[in-house]
Amino acid sequence: MISPDQLRSKYLDFFKAKGHAVISGKSLLPENDPTVLFTTAGMHPLVPYLLGEPHPAGSRLVDYQKCVRTGDIDEVGDPSHLTCFEMLGNWSLGDYFKRESIAYSWEFLTSEQWLALDPAKLSVTVFAGDQNAPRDDESAARWRELGVPEDRVAYLPASDNWWAAGPTGPCGPDTEIFYWTGPGLPPAGSNKGTDSANWMEIWNNVFMEYNRVDEHTLVKLPMQNVDTGMGLERTIAVLNGAASVYLTDSFKPILDAIGTVAGVTYGSDPARDTSMRIVADHVRSATMILGDQRGPSPGNVGAGYVLRRLIRRAVRHGRKLGIEQAFLGTPAAVVVDLLSGAYPELKDNRTRIMDELAREEAKFLETLQKGEHEFEKMLPNLLKNPQKVMSGRLAFKLYDTYGFPIELTLELAAENGLSVNRDEFDDAFRKHQELSRAGAEQTFKGGLADQSEAATAYHTATHLLHKALRMVLGDHVAQKGSNITTERLRFDFSHPAPMTPEEIKRVEDIVNEQIKRDLPVTMRMMPLEEAKATGAMALFGEKYEAVVKVYSVGDFSMEVCGGPHVERTGSMGRFVIQKEQSSSAGVRRIRAVLER
Ligand code: SER
Repeated sequence: MISPDQLRSKYLDFFKAKGHAVISGKSLLPENDPTVLFTTAGMHPLVPYLLGEPHPAGSRLVDYQKCVRTGDIDEVGDPSHLTCFEMLGNWSLGDYFKRESIAYSWEFLTSEQWLALDPAKLSVTVFAGDQNAPRDDESAARWRELGVPEDRVAYLPASDNWWAAGPTGPCGPDTEIFYWTGPGLPPAGSNKGTDSANWMEIWNNVFMEYNRVDEHTLVKLPMQNVDTGMGLERTIAVLNGAASVYLTDSFKPILDAIGTVAGVTYGSDPARDTSMRIVADHVRSATMILGDQRGPSPGNVGAGYVLRRLIRRAVRHGRKLGIEQAFLGTPAAVVVDLLSGAYPELKDNRTRIMDELAREEAKFLETLQKGEHEFEKMLPNLLKNPQKVMSGRLAFKLYDTYGFPIELTLELAAENGLSVNRDEFDDAFRKHQELSRAGAEQTFKGGLADQSEAATAYHTATHLLHKALRMVLGDHVAQKGSNITTERLRFDFSHPAPMTPEEIKRVEDIVNEQIKRDLPVTMRMMPLEEAKATGAMALFGEKYEAVVKVYSVGDFSMEVCGGPHVERTGSMGRFVIQKEQSSSAGVRRIRAVLER
């Protein structure tokens, strides 16, 4: 038996022994990146360094990172997909490449001293080549050299073996490692290419030597990087001979807590098992999001909306299990206990997690009651319909006006001998979704992968603004969030009251004066303690490395930051605050532009 805590430390120890510096994982809510709602992969916080920014901890790094992917939220419930998972990662920033990377992975997986997995149960895939890059014979040869038989190497196309975090940014071919989950030993000739059902991916080594600038342009990066990601939950399952992540110590205690409330046992009924997995997964993700150092509250947009959906879907599946009362706090407490060793912020934010869950759950239970009440009011009329069909329009009204989920309308209808015109509902729903998507998912430029002149100038302007706000409003001003595109900056900071027009003007003037002074921007690496002692601004509650990069704008500001920044302030343009408004209790939000 190996526990998640043990696997994390083994991984860090192994790569430490190979000269890697241990760095801490980052928040689930990316700072300065409007292109994604959540940190979706271990490499995400490292994008600037993969593109060439020097990293203060060096060129060989190792870490573990909490990640959230909710693209396939409606598919969660099967035995292997999770909305929140941990990635163990080792990184080479222009240091080693394919040869060492593959050898490290093989040694860690198969050596008796480390994970001691049976080599006969491992297979790999490599990039088959296309118009962008050649077939990766080098990786294939390296695997063979290490003892992987020819028939366990599959050459697959870019859809399988090319990795990119988004439409732009660092990317490259990858080689993926799979573990046999079928009975006995895999038959000769079996690999991911011939049998995708029985091979489970556990580790992905990406050879990032390209940067996708736009849809048509792929350029070679100045250096060859390695980004690897090992799925912690899946590897734990493999190491403990469990058929599913839900049968490991990462999930069993959560399922037990749900089972106790519902009076059911996991494994006794397939439909109930699916609901139990959904509740377990969603409560775990919601707890991690709420307990994050920058955790949002449930809401109607962005990350808060995803959080709300997770909580509500958990409540709905709780009801399927026969739970009528509020119950999410019980499994959430188990999640905090399981994960706070690795993520101490969960313990710090325990009260917040419990309060927010309870509030959202109560709100949703009320919604459900209201919806049921409305349905009952409609019922006499519905029953008069000779075809016994409820129109999709009406079902949509319940959804749209009262937030009542279609699944529940279907259930109530069925209980009363009615069917629902699902096509009509789906139609109305799709139209509604298209409208809200147009609002929520504008494709932003910017983000961590954007090192364009415009985005870089906004990075530097953010430092100037931060300092100017502290000068004008006082030292209580602390950065609460920052979001940069090529068009504008957005800055959230703690301050109890709206700014007066005079204060806004003074802040603008101070920033513009620093731009006019054409100050040089310089970077120095120093121990975090030294940075704090010299008065550099840093984000409260953020996890930093032992050695950090400190950017100084002339004699004006000094701030711990990953960069990049402009070389001199002179050409940034004129700084204008367009809006100052409330963001949340005690937090103000400024939107500002640089006019050229
Ligand atoms: N970026 C790759 C992944 O997420 C490897 O870390 O799979």
